Formats: sequence, structure tokens, C-alpha cells
Amino acid sequence: MWKKGRETMRRGTLRNPAWTLAAFGLAVALSACGSDEGANDPGQLQPGPQPGEPGYPGAPGEAQTPEEQVKQILDARKADYGEALRTASLKLRDELPSLAEIKTIEAAADEAGKKAAYEKLVDDMLASPKFSNVMVKFWKDTFRTAQVGAIQQGQPNKDTAANFAAQVVVEGRNYSELFTATANTCPTFDAATSTFTPAACPAHPSGQATVGLLTDSGLLAQYYSNMAFRRLRFIQETFACQKFPAEYSSTPKPMGNGTFTGTQPFESITGKQNKPDARIDFQDTQAVICANCHSTMNHLTPLLMGANEAGLFQTPTAQNPSEVLVPIPGEPRARRIDYLPDGEGFFWRAGKPVTDLSSLGAAIAADPEVGRCAVNRVWNYALSRGDIVNDLATIPNAVTDGFRTQFAANNGNLKEIIRGVFKSEDFVKF
Ligand code: HEC
Repeated sequence: MWKKGRETMRRGTLRNPAWTLAAFGLAVALSACGSDEGANDPGQLQPGPQPGEPGYPGAPGEAQTPEEQVKQILDARKADYGEALRTASLKLRDELPSLAEIKTIEAAADEAGKKAAYEKLVDDMLASPKFSNVMVKFWKDTFRTAQVGAIQQGQPNKDTAANFAAQVVVEGRNYSELFTATANTCPTFDAATSTFTPAACPAHPSGQATVGLLTDSGLLAQYYSNMAFRRLRFIQETFACQKFPAEYSSTPKPMGNGTFTGTQPFESITGKQNKPDARIDFQDTQAVICANCHSTMNHLTPLLMGANEAGLFQTPTAQNPSEVLVPIPGEPRARRIDYLPDGEGFFWRAGKPVTDLSSLGAAIAADPEVGRCAVNRVWNYALSRGDIVNDLATIPNAVTDGFRTQFAANNGNLKEIIRGVFKSEDFVKF
């Protein structure tokens, strides 16, 4: 679970003024204008009162506009490197800072010295073996794969996915390996020595090759469900940070008792309209528009239907076309035709066709929203904001844009983003 302590309380509304800014729709405007607000605005023909002049917003005695109030809150925050050190130490090493470390910051002569001392300590924490343990826990929480007790008979090791994600981050490797790595995606982790040992995953009977975490048996078993939809939901919510529907059309169509908002054609998934004997009617519009979510989901989920309850891909046969069931009487095995009409292909998103798990992994890795999601998860962890999907702890883009750009340019090195977030003004100011 996330570490929640006093720091959570400290990080209230004032702690996160960027959200307040965004709530006013001002984040971009404020950062763009700096001190000479409006001076370069070509739409402003009549220069208004200048700072210090009566009538200038925010001048003594004048009522402030909301953006000025927010800016004032922003400016009033003060860096507290001792407080930041305590929280950073808990989050990056799972222990309190030592007295010696606290004194390093206290002893610094001035603000710049304190900042330098704090930043050096953050670097030390990221280099410490304990950071590996913290990352393993972070990913177990994120993947919800923490195991209690021994691995049950016939069940895969559910630790390997978190171990691999942690290893990629700790070693400064490219985050896209989570979706594209072709070997050694099931490392072991020795918590006592904080050591990762690379290892191959158990082989899939079908011969399915390794595709990052997409072929991890622990995850596939954890999220086993009818028609394999829960596996896709896991991928969507964990790595795209958003529940289904994943896509919204710019031209929504009224339909039945609702509005179809999907971006892939309504007719492109299986339902009673194009297959009168469809076992599940994904074109139903009576209560909800199934296609709003399922037009994306059905174009992907058949890729995941071949893995059984233990997360191992089996070779399909005429009798057993898949390893997942359709929730209708008799619980027959799902077939591709249950999701898609014949000839309909797979898509990560509309316009992003894929053919198998490898190309799906590549499409996920290339999706800018997926990089954004990783950065935002780091941000929420640092600022104790809970889970971006389940706690609705969403973040306006403007808040993490800088880190998103850095992440795109640094070869997907998430460790550097963690370093940046823990040194950021938003983290050290209270
Ligand atoms: C808001 C998005 C959304 C809509 C709308 C939606 N679904 Fe789903 N559906 C999902 C998700 C997500 C899952 C996977 C849930 C899970 O297992 O965690 C799912 C699962 C399913 C399953 C498997 C259930 C099981 O037993 O595991 C079926 C069948 C299904 N949906 C059919 C439909 C039909 C038919 C409709 C329209 C009447 C519909 N869905 C509307 C998102 C949606």
C-alpha cells in the first residue's frame, strides 16, 4: 500500500497549487506570461494599469482575480529541504533519513547549500540497494500482484512482472521494454541482498514468444476472466491510466438509448446486427452502448484468449479454440467470431493496426499516453496522491508536461524522471 503519513496531510490544496491553477484553466497562461503579464498580447490594444499603479489587479486594496490568488499561493510556498528529505527517504529507501543526513542539510550555510545537499542525498538514495526493494514494491502495488504465502500448486509466480518492471527502472533501461522485451522478463529478486537475477519465463506450450509483460504468466493468471476482457482492462488501466472507453470519436452518433462514441466502426464488432446468432450482442444499444468500450476491446482481446487460468498460452484446436469462456449457459469456449466479424483485424487504437502480441507491444510502447501514464504514476507516488485510475487521482497535462518531454527524450529512463520529480519545486516546497 502507499505510504501515507503526515506528509499526506501536508500535501493538501496548497501543496498542489498546480491543480488549483488547472482548475481555473490557467496553468498554461500563467507559465507563459511570467512577469510582464499581457504585455505581448496582440489583442490588448489599450495597455492597462501597470504594476504598482492604482487599478492594477492585486495592488494593495484591489480585489484579486482568481489567478492572482493562485499565483500568490504558489509564490508563498517555501522550500523545506528537511521535510522533503524525510518524505523522499521514506519513498525511495523505505526508511527515515539518518541524523547525519539531516545535519548535512541543517549545516548548509544558505538556501543554495541546502538545496545542493538535499539533491546529493536524493542521488545517494537512488543509487542505494534499498531503491530496488522500493521499486519492486511499487510495481507489486501497481500490478496488484503481491502474493501472500507460497505459490499455489498449478499457479505461476506472480512476482516476476513486478521484478522485471523494477529491474528495468533501477537499471535505467528503456520503459518500453515492459512491452517489447523478448527475453529474461521473469527475473528473481533477492530482497535481502537487493539483487535481480535475470531469468527466462516458463515456456508457453503454444510456443508464444516472450513479449515484455504481455506474456507474463503471473499477470495473465491474475487477470484471467471470461473472454479475457479483464486482461485487457489491466493493460489499459495500468499502462494507459484510463478506464474504458479508451477512445472517443469527435463525431458521436445518437444510437438506441444512448450515443455511440467509439472511434472504430459500430459494425466492426460482433453483434446481432451483423450476426443474428451472436452469442454476446456487443451491438446492443438498449441500456448502454456496449460498443463504446467494446469497439476497442474486441479489436484486441482475442490476442489474449489463448492463455489458460495458469497464464500459459495453449495451441488452439477445433474443439478448444481458446482457454477462456463465454458467460452464457453451458459456458462454451470463446472464439474469435464472438468478438469480431470474419476478416476484421486487430487494433491497439483506431488507425493503429496490430497483428499479434509483438506488434501490440510495439504499439503500446509507441503510444504517447503510455509514457504520460508512467510519468504520472511516478508523480502520484512522490506526492502521495493514490492510484491514478482507482482513486481518480488524475493530473492535468500541464503539471507533468516537462517530465513527459524529458521521458520521451531520455530513452524511456523512468529512474531519471523519479530523480527529477523528487528534486522538483513541487516536491520540495510546502
Ligand atoms: C464502460 C465500458 C463498457 C461497456 C459500456 C460495456 N462493457 Fe463489457 N466489459 C468492460 C470491461 C472493462 C470488462 C472487463 C471487466 C473485468 O473483468 O474486470 C467487460 C467485460 C464484459 C464481459 C465479460 C464478463 C465476465 O463475465 O467476465 C462481457 C460478456 C461483456 N463485457 C459484454 C458487454 C455487453 C453485452 C455490453 C453492453 C450491454 C457491455 N459489455 C458494455 C467494459 C464495458
